[in-house]
Amino acid sequence: MNIERNLHMIKGDGDSSYAKNSSMQRKAILATKPMVAEALKGVCMDLQPQLMVVADLGCSSGTNTLLFISKVIATISEKTPTDNNIRGCPMEVQFFLNDLPGNDFNHIFQSLEQFEQSTVQDYARRGLHPPPHYIAGVPGSFYTRLFPCNSVHLFHSSFSLMWLSQVPEHLDSNMNKGNIYIWETTPPLVAKLYLDQFEKDFSRFLQLRCKELVPGGQMVLTVLGRKSNDVVHGGGMMNISLELLSQAVRTLVAEGRVEKEKLDSFNLPMYGPSADELKQLVQQNELLDIVDIHVFDLTYNPIDKSELEVGVNAAPDNIQEAIGHNITTGLRAVMEPLLMSHFGESIIDDLFMVFECNVIRHVKSAEHKSSITAISLSLQTKLVAATGDA
Ligand SMILES: C[S@@+](CC[C@H](N)C(=O)[O-])C[C@H]1O[C@@H](n2cnc3c(N)ncnc32)[C@H](O)[C@@H]1O
Repeated sequence: MNIERNLHMIKGDGDSSYAKNSSMQRKAILATKPMVAEALKGVCMDLQPQLMVVADLGCSSGTNTLLFISKVIATISEKTPTDNNIRGCPMEVQFFLNDLPGNDFNHIFQSLEQFEQSTVQDYARRGLHPPPHYIAGVPGSFYTRLFPCNSVHLFHSSFSLMWLSQVPEHLDSNMNKGNIYIWETTPPLVAKLYLDQFEKDFSRFLQLRCKELVPGGQMVLTVLGRKSNDVVHGGGMMNISLELLSQAVRTLVAEGRVEKEKLDSFNLPMYGPSADELKQLVQQNELLDIVDIHVFDLTYNPIDKSELEVGVNAAPDNIQEAIGHNITTGLRAVMEPLLMSHFGESIIDDLFMVFECNVIRHVKSAEHKSSITAISLSLQTKLVAATGDA
């Protein structure tokens, strides 16, 4: 599986696009606003940069990355004029938006003009000017070097670092039969290979970013993860929905629409870690301190109509169908291109139709829980210079 080529969210702003189906991820960005604000204040106080360099890694397309940018601008402009002006000049902000080359960067770039207009109008209404800011795209894997040494003040990444650089090394076809991720019938060795790959990737990510951060720079990283160390059930709706997707593929196998070997050879290149696993990996990196860590649930709230996207008009009695539909469109916006590259385009509509039925059945079941777990880490580099190449 070529992840750099095949992993991207559904492009554009059509009904099935990531831009229109990423309200869970949006909630995570809203929930971590205080952590980002603290990190920015820390950088401003400790380093007093004239130019603040901020990078959003795994930005995708749509408004979530712009929401992050607007929160950074707001935090910087909330500071007093004295804090905000160094040697008589306002602090400037350079944003770098990173994702894999297949990401729909054009969609972001095309929305920048409107974003800038509404930002300026919003500040003007309050008699203010936003801090001067500049936005650029950086295509490439965050498991490689992306920026010069000592050049970035704040790294942000939300709902991206659970994606691995590859399907776990040594995980051969047939080792995880009938599953596309970790579930009850997954052999412990397979779960271990997933953890090994995550450890390798996340450690490398931290090493690379430490070189790129200025000494004293910070990172706020949010991942889809697990509430406990139980690798099967600790992930709640994350593991459950991927099992419901496996079930949908198994249905198509039973109908002769998908070859069994195709299912057995497919394993998702993602891993939802626990807070303990993350902490351990950060502690192994001697250049970083954990400033803060939060484990929180993101729920599909049946009474929050703003979560019901793509023209779903939900009456209270079909709210479970609406939630099931939302979970389906959200997962499809993320997974479709990858699934299509392996299973082919012709089965995709039917696959997600079966999946939606599975999800609605699950949501209606007595023990249903439709929350997923997110883990946010706030990290700071120790004030020692990090130099050299990866
Ligand atoms: C679920 S989206 C999250 C996007 C955005 N941060 C948000 O909160 O809406 C995950 C993004 O991570 C990107 N991604 C995955 N692996 C990556 C890698 N190795 N380097 C850069 N981006 C990556 C994917 O392409 C995708 O756009």
